[in-house]
Amino acid sequence: MLVDPLTPAPHTIALAAATLRRGGLVAFPTETVYGLGANALDAAAVARIFHAKGRPANDPLIVHIATIEQLDQVAADVPALARTLAAAFWPGPLTLVLRRQPIVPASVSAGRASLAVRMPAHAVARALCAAAGVPIAAPSANMFTRPSPTQATHVLEDLDGRIDLLLDGGPTPIGLESTVLDLTQPQPQLLRPGGVPIEALRHFMPELTFEQRYVDVQDAAPASPGMLLKHYSPRAELQLFAGAPEHALAGMRAATQAAQAAGRRVGILAPDEDAARLADLGAQVVPLGPRADLAQIGRLIFAGMRQLDRQGVELILARGVERSGLGLAIWDRLVRAAEGRVIDVGE
Ligand code: TXA
Ligand code: MG
Repeated sequence: MLVDPLTPAPHTIALAAATLRRGGLVAFPTETVYGLGANALDAAAVARIFHAKGRPANDPLIVHIATIEQLDQVAADVPALARTLAAAFWPGPLTLVLRRQPIVPASVSAGRASLAVRMPAHAVARALCAAAGVPIAAPSANMFTRPSPTQATHVLEDLDGRIDLLLDGGPTPIGLESTVLDLTQPQPQLLRPGGVPIEALRHFMPELTFEQRYVDVQDAAPASPGMLLKHYSPRAELQLFAGAPEHALAGMRAATQAAQAAGRRVGILAPDEDAARLADLGAQVVPLGPRADLAQIGRLIFAGMRQLDRQGVELILARGVERSGLGLAIWDRLVRAAEGRVIDVGE
């Protein structure tokens, strides 16, 4: 169902809210990616989310709220730092991991004592949370391990027939998921870089760092949710090149030619400058915008992976971006899509 992304029609929102209150599943746009929402206080509805996505029950969900009062409804012992960060970044792409209130079914957070919460900024998400009157549990609206959906068509690609309603508000403005910050430890832990850059958080937590720690799907310990390496992956194998630009481009050129000689269809996911340099190879090239425009690359990266999958390529080559600002989140998604296959050509 189409919905205006800036001023959603009240009757559309009311219909979606009623669907949620009845225990249904509603996919909706947020400023980051599309979410697959259910009433977070209804364990049966939450179970349907896991089922629809094929998501393992040990991977906890984010709860979305409309008002700061709802924060205390779902989270207990909210520390002062959480309130400071909420005041600074909400509504927006920051998720805080806090202590779960018993009113929220344990299944939402995969049995943990904690709960991830955020207040989304997108007008459709805000209106839906407000109209539903209940907190909304919503993971990204993709099948487990597929790239997150940044357009309504991506949601249908993965979940058509498995959801009750899809609100199509056009492409999502950030295109990368929220930043996840764990405040249940003595020291805040950045679990996932995302739409709020680490530099903005360091204003409040100067010591904050991000250690990339990933585990394989097979030995995913429940202690490390969301750190799965096989995550956000296109179907095609993705190889990520890092290091000096000229060497990386030469490496990508050689890898393309070798794969083509072996009869493989190759796709290239690259900023405009790289795409132009590699255009002569006869590979499927998806340009992501100017290299310096990390916001644009962030908006297009997941859509680019899906586009190359639809074009039937077997190998996708990508080049790393600078790891500052939104670049840290883009790099993280590329490493995961590559399942760790980073080819460092050196400086
Ligand atoms: O931008 C977003 O965050 C989007 C939109 C829809 O809000 N949602 C999203 O949800 O990306 P999902 O489920 O795809 O990713 C949630 C991440 C996962 O890495 C999960 O492991 C982590 O948050 N997470 C959720 N609850 C947690 C908890 N209690 N403790 C630690 N990590 C948690
Ligand atoms: Mg996800």
